[in-house]
Amino acid sequence: MLVQKNVPLQSFNTFHIVAKAHALVRISGESDVQAVLADPKIVGKPKFVLGGGSNIVLTGDVKPLVLKVEVMGRRLLRETAKAFIVEAGAGENWHDFVTWTLEAGYPGLENMALIPGTVGASPVQNIGAYGVELQDRFDSLDAIDLQTGQMFTLNAAQCAFGYRDSVFKHASASDIDAGHQALGLKDRALILRVRFVLPKTWKPVLGYADIDKKMAEQGVSQPTAQQLFDWVCAIRRAKLPDPDVIGNAGSFFKNPTVTSEQCADIIARDPKVVHYVLADGSVKLAAGWLIDACGWRGKSVGQAGVYEKQALVLVNRGTGLAGSGVTGGEVMTLAKAIQTSVYERFGIRLETEPVII
Ligand code: EPU
Repeated sequence: MLVQKNVPLQSFNTFHIVAKAHALVRISGESDVQAVLADPKIVGKPKFVLGGGSNIVLTGDVKPLVLKVEVMGRRLLRETAKAFIVEAGAGENWHDFVTWTLEAGYPGLENMALIPGTVGASPVQNIGAYGVELQDRFDSLDAIDLQTGQMFTLNAAQCAFGYRDSVFKHASASDIDAGHQALGLKDRALILRVRFVLPKTWKPVLGYADIDKKMAEQGVSQPTAQQLFDWVCAIRRAKLPDPDVIGNAGSFFKNPTVTSEQCADIIARDPKVVHYVLADGSVKLAAGWLIDACGWRGKSVGQAGVYEKQALVLVNRGTGLAGSGVTGGEVMTLAKAIQTSVYERFGIRLETEPVII
């Protein structure tokens, strides 16, 4: 096992924030994790699992031992009468994996094309886009317990998926106050492989305004999976910054849910507020719209900026990979200023989406 010291993390996080890992170990399979756990010098030390770094904000050098997940491989695991069960290593790039599934004839992930990050990170925040969430296509995953070294498999119910949420984002009962019932796996599990269930009777998932617009423009009423994939890529490229060019971590805040009464109050003052009524009668508001309405689109604090085309995305206005750039502190100062102004104007507390380290 090779423990690398003082490893620059700038190219391992999509915000391209300059920070170092005090120590880093590359994990390409279960045996690498077992080697870490067998080493008396590091077994008891705090650990941080790093995937594609697309959903983190580094606010300083990382002191816990960084386990950089590089478990590769993708294959059709088995076929049932109704579905293809496809498996991928946690270190595989998410978009490359989606592209591969389509080329191999297993559609179903196309609405989630071009989401930055790795396969292993996808269940952690239950990624989603254009009407499909990871949980809709999830079969199971294999992980390893970083305290005991035990391998385990979780199904969808055990992952406790929610909107940009899962068991992997919550602290375990032993880490929180006694009396609390949470059974989270935050900082406890390292995901090795994820399996997806892709139905053989494929149907396009439609109903999003941006997709409807593409259908109308091209006069297509029943798109193929490849067409949907191409449209999603085009839509994302037009309004979201490419992290290889402009550092960012995707949506910086979750879309908040409010009661129908709260929403009626906001509509009375701001009739244009973008909102979606959910099945249980509560209402989801477009956080990007709220931030935009507070005048933040295009603004900056130091080298942290609010993206011009999508106010929900905070970006690195520095020189990115070339050297100097945004600090995690600047990003968080901007995020807090945005939270304060949205709260003052709408009475809503925006929750951050990326993990702050
Ligand atoms: N809007 C504005 N001004 C802005 C930004 C948005 O008025 O500056 C309005 C838009 O016009 C639109 C509405 O807000 O009417 C919603 O915007 P958009 O369709 O871009 O979607 P979103 O709710 O902002 C969510 C996800 C994205 C996902 C898209 C498409 C979250 C936190 N974000 O964004 O996911 O790609 O829907 O499904 O749920 C991510 O999580 O990193 C991510 C990019």
